[in-house]
Amino acid sequence: MTVRQKVVVFGSLNMDLVVRVPRMPQPGETLSAHGFLSNPGGKGANQAVACARQGGRVVMVGRVGDDGFGGQLRTALVAQGVNAAGVATTPGVSSGVAMIMVDDAAQNCIAVVAGANASVGIEDADALREWLADAGLLLLQLEVPMTSVLKAAAVAKEAGCTVLLNPAPAQALPDALWPLLDILVLNETEAQLLSGLALVDLHNAVDAAMLLRRRGPRDVIVTLGEQGVVWVSAVGVRHFKAHKVEAVDTTAAGDTFIGALAALLVEGRSMEEALAHAIRAAAICVTRAGAQASMPSREEAERFA
Ligand code: RIB
Repeated sequence: MTVRQKVVVFGSLNMDLVVRVPRMPQPGETLSAHGFLSNPGGKGANQAVACARQGGRVVMVGRVGDDGFGGQLRTALVAQGVNAAGVATTPGVSSGVAMIMVDDAAQNCIAVVAGANASVGIEDADALREWLADAGLLLLQLEVPMTSVLKAAAVAKEAGCTVLLNPAPAQALPDALWPLLDILVLNETEAQLLSGLALVDLHNAVDAAMLLRRRGPRDVIVTLGEQGVVWVSAVGVRHFKAHKVEAVDTTAAGDTFIGALAALLVEGRSMEEALAHAIRAAAICVTRAGAQASMPSREEAERFA
């Protein structure tokens, strides 16, 4: 029997341009910032790196532009042990860029220019067949066109691969996508938008997860920041507490959680073990600045109590 331990990520790559501000500016206001960091990001690439840092074998499929950022984004993936052979260049467009402001309370505001991510097409999803033959899990997010995400999920199903969707940034999903999903991992905002329920406490989060599970995914996981994580599956409802940490920057905490979860699931760990590990990895991530720059190693996440 083939053990399918590879993870394929189909999604975005962005260069994150991060400015540290004392507080978020008002419209029309100019603020003095106290720091700048340029580091590789993008939800797809972040999840690929997070998975690789936890020991996963990962292939990234996506697109960059023919600018300087494109080369840097590819090099960053390779440096973290991600196979970037599935990252193509779209001529004549810029790479994806995210303008991020992080305030002293560790909250962020992000504006994303899709750039080459918008050119990830149906043909790229079709080409996934090559990578999915021996893969255990396909990771999807929503920073590339929805039509391509839908096709990618269909191709993965045909290949007998588990499909995990992180519906971020939050947007409505086409009806045809729901039955193709095995695992749905989403935050409060996304759960609220997709379920139509207001998430004011843990009970609402469970209700939202149950409602969404009825649409197709066998596992629905809602991440709730300081309130931890809710997991709803065929075996019932579980709540996992968050670790208390001093937050510096929450950017990519969700991506770190998802990449780590994927790495442990394809190793054959139980969902309980994978969730506990992913929560530790995400807790470490928020104590550091940046996206890929903030992700812990496997050893660090295992040592974290
Ligand atoms: O999830 C965090 C990511 O969202 C950032 O790295 C940024 O690129 C945006 O896509």
